[in-house]
Amino acid sequence: MSGLVDPFGRNIHYLRLSVTDRCDLRCQYCLPEGFNDFDEPEDWLSFAELTRVVRAFAELGTHRIRITGGEPLVRRDLPALIGSLAALPGIDDLSLSTNATRLRRLAAPLHVAGIRRLNVSLDSLDAATYRRITRGKLDKVVDGLMAAKAAGFAPIKINMVVMKGINDHEVVDMVEFCKTHGFTLRFIETMPVGDTGRSATEHYISLDIIRERLAARYTLTDGHLSGGGPARYVRVDDSPLHVGFITPMSQHFCDTCNRVRLSADGTLYLCLGQDDKYELRPLLRAGISDAELREHIAHAITLKPERHEFRETPSRVVRFMSMTGG
Ligand code: GTP
Ligand code: 5AD
Ligand code: SF4
Repeated sequence: MSGLVDPFGRNIHYLRLSVTDRCDLRCQYCLPEGFNDFDEPEDWLSFAELTRVVRAFAELGTHRIRITGGEPLVRRDLPALIGSLAALPGIDDLSLSTNATRLRRLAAPLHVAGIRRLNVSLDSLDAATYRRITRGKLDKVVDGLMAAKAAGFAPIKINMVVMKGINDHEVVDMVEFCKTHGFTLRFIETMPVGDTGRSATEHYISLDIIRERLAARYTLTDGHLSGGGPARYVRVDDSPLHVGFITPMSQHFCDTCNRVRLSADGTLYLCLGQDDKYELRPLLRAGISDAELREHIAHAITLKPERHEFRETPSRVVRFMSMTGG
């Protein structure tokens, strides 16, 4: 079967699968402190439903799956789902984005189940700053990262949302930390997704400035790292360290977009920065056939918007980032 191509000629072959909207942290750019109004578990797709949807995507040419949340590791028995997805024909890249708070216990079972590469959110190496940004504990996250390294994940990519006056003074420390541990580092610009995301843009800083700061200290050369995402990489000095820049605001990458997102309740979100969506859960529960499911997915892809309008219409996206997992 031929792949999915959207109205703008983009081949859609990367599905981000949010397995829960819940999270054990409250990152200030993502969820309000005290927030607890999550989806009800009965509304979540079951593992069988999720596997069925991924199989349909795989039959339509999707070969990269990234598990996201909320925080995906709060979904009970996640390794069992991973095992089912890893066994599907056509999926050659199964990855996971996590905040690492639960990795100490789950790193090894996830690796055994079939996850090979991990992206981990880590915005600060200072415990007080980490707590201020996420309301969580830094030592748990570092401990989780070390467990992931020991379990054999490669690459492990660190995602740092850079915020002026909050953690931007730490970019060099983060480079050194990643160099020491053999991690890849990616910097991310704040996006106005949800009220929390919009408040965080008060601390927006263009990654051009961060790149200049690094260039004053290190020799940066163009680099390349396999992966399906929008980061543009440089190599740092002669080390194997790659640093990636994810620049949705200063230089958007929508013309090369390859992805859609499925939320835990079975809604297909066609763009991170738009409201366009297509509900699969009622169709699945109404008993549609596999062929019909593929037709619905193919139709949904025809509704994919050209790009986000974070600059023109920053108030557009009201859902929190935790619904679609970044
Ligand atoms: P790989 O390159 O395959 O490792 O994955 P990735 O970088 O796409 O995954 P990750 O979950 O680590 O995403 C990092 C961040 O990039 C996300 O949290 C978002 O902030 C941003 N991002 C990822 N995909 C998109 C996208 O389609 N649009 C926009 N605007 N931002 C995105
Ligand atoms: N802007 C940019 N990145 C965000 N993330 C969550 N909310 C935002 C936002 N408003 C990032 C997290 C994590 C990834 C999954 O999404 O830091 O690395
Ligand atoms: Fe794709 Fe939308 Fe992200 Fe742009 S903002 S890269 S079109 S998902």
